[in-house]
Amino acid sequence: LALSISQLIVQATNTTYQQIFESIGEGILVLDDRGRIMLTNTSLESLFGYSKEELQKQSIGVLIPKRLRKKHETLHAAFMQNPKKRKMAENKEFEALRKDGTAMSVRVGLNYYKENGSTNVIAVVSDVTEKHIVEKRLLREKERVRLCLNLSNTIFVELDQNGNVKLVNQEGCKTLEYSKDEIVGKNWFDSFVPPEELPQNKDIFNAMMTGKLEGIKFFKSKVISKSGKYKLIQWHNSLLKDENGKHEVMISSGVDITLQEQAEKAQTEAIIIGMERERKRVALDLHDGLVQTLSAISLNLKAMDDSVICMCKNDQEAYNGALELLEAAISDTRSMSHDLMPAAIERYGIVKALKDLVARTTKYGNLHVEIDPDDVDQYLNEFYRLNLYRIIQELIQNIMKHANATSAFIKIRRKPYGINITVKDDGVGFSSSLEKAQQSGIGIRNIETRVKHMNGTLKVTSSSKKGTTVQIHVPVSY
Ligand SMILES: Nc1ncnc2c1ncn2[C@@H]1O[C@H](COP(=O)(O)OP(=O)(O)O)[C@@H](O)[C@H]1O
Ligand SMILES: [Mg+2]
Repeated sequence: LALSISQLIVQATNTTYQQIFESIGEGILVLDDRGRIMLTNTSLESLFGYSKEELQKQSIGVLIPKRLRKKHETLHAAFMQNPKKRKMAENKEFEALRKDGTAMSVRVGLNYYKENGSTNVIAVVSDVTEKHIVEKRLLREKERVRLCLNLSNTIFVELDQNGNVKLVNQEGCKTLEYSKDEIVGKNWFDSFVPPEELPQNKDIFNAMMTGKLEGIKFFKSKVISKSGKYKLIQWHNSLLKDENGKHEVMISSGVDITLQEQAEKAQTEAIIIGMERERKRVALDLHDGLVQTLSAISLNLKAMDDSVICMCKNDQEAYNGALELLEAAISDTRSMSHDLMPAAIERYGIVKALKDLVARTTKYGNLHVEIDPDDVDQYLNEFYRLNLYRIIQELIQNIMKHANATSAFIKIRRKPYGINITVKDDGVGFSSSLEKAQQSGIGIRNIETRVKHMNGTLKVTSSSKKGTTVQIHVPVSY
């Protein structure tokens, strides 16, 4: 501004230029080479509270607080020795004095021009007092936010577009067991995320930063602390956009839910173990109790075969019918007890056990079930094998009971980060909403409990025309 204004002043004899000069919002004054005020515009006069006449021929000193006048004289002399254009410096401020004795902060841009052998200085003065107050308030606000962040029991982290940490609060430092200096500036993903969680974390971060993923605001992921401890954090992310609407930083708040998760896991494990124990008990009761009793009855009845010959035809038919029903009851009870306690899993693995289950299922009725499994047994421990078997067993039972389907398909796939299971039928679909179905039966809730216990995800899609598809992902480290 000072530069172009200098041209204006040179031409200020012209009234148009004079009008422009007067209407400029910045205060402008022209000094002669001895530092006396020669010319001022309206803005400068109102800024300092003087009239044009009061300032005419006055030394510039009147606009400067007493204690700073000496210093200013030196500065002025230095400028006159080597006059240079000087733009309004961004950060350099001076204290100026109003007529009423109050001080204000100003920024000053300087230029000069020569006239009749003398060098005149043009100063453009801009009041930044207000800005100062705002800046101070902002600093206080910032300090307040910092204090709040540090008082909180929640972790706060701010990441830039590349995932470098810009800010972390005390709770964040405590959780990660590093000092603030050790965290700020580091890349979050390279430094604090366990390698196995990296791909998923980076995907989510990039998708959020590029605006592709507005949806996922909450997610759980692990961090790794200085001493190598894994901690599970429930994150809540939000994005801060820059003036161009581009995502500039991600601010995440997190709560350490490691202990909570452990407690929940212990609880679901207890539920699952309890369920299995109960099934085992019923299975043994059936097998060793009911099946034995029924077999004994069958033996006793068969022992009567000789006398049956002497019976009338009707009684003979009734006898043979009863015997057949009894054999069917024994076989049903035996297979029920096997379903309840699938010893085959332990002996032959989940894939074989599931194939058996499918074969037994397809023997009766119109339902055709196909299974296409990857060989996953070697990657699963005993608990996972039983869990997955139970889940698929319940899904097949549901199809038989509720779907009225003609075919069903079971797929088990080994993926880089775990195992995917899809169970699909072409039946009637869920008649009520999934939520209602979840509340009505314990089957689906049990599946949820088991999936959750393995940190997996469960997705059910159902429509009356296309039947039901259940997709399950269970993370497994190979
Ligand atoms: N494959 C399916 N097709 C249609 N409806 C289903 C299917 N699976 C489950 N459902 C519905 O969801 C409900 C809840 O299932 P579930 O929790 O297993 O309880 P249950 O089998 O004891 O009724 C069922 O009553 C049924 O209405
Ligand atoms: Mg069921």
